[in-house]
Amino acid sequence: MGETISKAKPLVTALRGETDGPVPIWLMRQAGRYLPEYREIRAKARSFLDFCYTPRLSVEATLQPVRRFGLDGAIIFSDILVIPDALGQAVTFVEERGPVLEALDDPGDLEGLGHPRRNDRLSPVYEAIARVSGHLPENVALIGFAGAPWTIASYMIEGGGSRDFSRIKSWAYGRPEALDALMEVLVEAIGGHLAAQAEAGAEVLQVFDSWAGAIPGDGFERWCIEPLARIARHVKSSFPDVPLIAFPRGAGLQYERVARGTGFDAVSIDSSVPLGFAREVLQNHVAVQGNLDPAALLVGGPAMREAVGRILGELGHGPFVFNLGHGVLRETPPEHVAELVAEVRGWGR
Ligand code: CP3
Repeated sequence: MGETISKAKPLVTALRGETDGPVPIWLMRQAGRYLPEYREIRAKARSFLDFCYTPRLSVEATLQPVRRFGLDGAIIFSDILVIPDALGQAVTFVEERGPVLEALDDPGDLEGLGHPRRNDRLSPVYEAIARVSGHLPENVALIGFAGAPWTIASYMIEGGGSRDFSRIKSWAYGRPEALDALMEVLVEAIGGHLAAQAEAGAEVLQVFDSWAGAIPGDGFERWCIEPLARIARHVKSSFPDVPLIAFPRGAGLQYERVARGTGFDAVSIDSSVPLGFAREVLQNHVAVQGNLDPAALLVGGPAMREAVGRILGELGHGPFVFNLGHGVLRETPPEHVAELVAEVRGWGR
């Protein structure tokens, strides 16, 4: 027990399954280019990765949305692609195009990847986490994160974003052992990265499997569930009290297996997940987070408020965290976020 007894933060208690108290809210991609104050500091860094690795800037980007909107969570400003970068695969972010990596071609390319433990490339992320911890209002929880192995592997093998995932799927069907070998490296690196974030002060950890919907159905156990379960065991062995959220976007019916079979405390649902399924099936096993369509936030007004009311009515009585089904869109007016937060704060259980 510590010397000071501070009240548990609403985001943390909701993720642990408690259902009393107000519904907490934070948003995926709450920091970013839709905020004018973000665009201002973003212009000070040479590249996006430099920005991520400069604690002075990443701390400020982390705090901006919390200051402006009074959210319950502050997600550390970084990116899922710091992992391939730390493993030694060159990553660049090209304006208007997104991330570009030198695609892995051959399983032999794996041997060129470094060992993240002997690499201090990610230490600015941990430094930023330690610094943010001291600047948060007492009810706001700090969220660390990483990409899931399948999603990071897809960027590494496709060489960037993809429409059809033909390259990683060719590995999945044609040389699954090579994909397993890459997954092995990633499970280790991601588990270590998450544990290091908890060590530095992250109070909640989220794993983004943004492209889980592209995993061939028969491969879901092998390339989503099992790697997530191994990551959960790794992190929980040192940080049993830090809640873990899985975001297997597009997983559909497989969400149930993520909720039951990974050891994660919560699942973040995308906007396609029916609320009745989330309530009757998922909330019986874990806390649920989600799932306002980012397009409804973009539109704002009565249409957004109606969607928010439906989500709260269906899920707000169980263990629940309000969020979007995916990240804030770049064209979103910041006032709509303020409107959303007010709507969620005004709802009573
Ligand atoms: O506010 C936050 O959520 C924290 C920071 C955060 C970023 N990326 C900052 C970012 C988080 C949690 C991410 C996660 C991330 N990054 C994911 C998983 C979530 C998802 O969207 O599915 C993925 C797939 C990435 C990879 C990535 N990073 C892409 C595809 C892009 C380019 C497209 C885009 O949205 O611009 C990025 C760049 C990026 N990461 C930006 C930000 C704010 C924009 C770059 C800039 O400001 O120049």
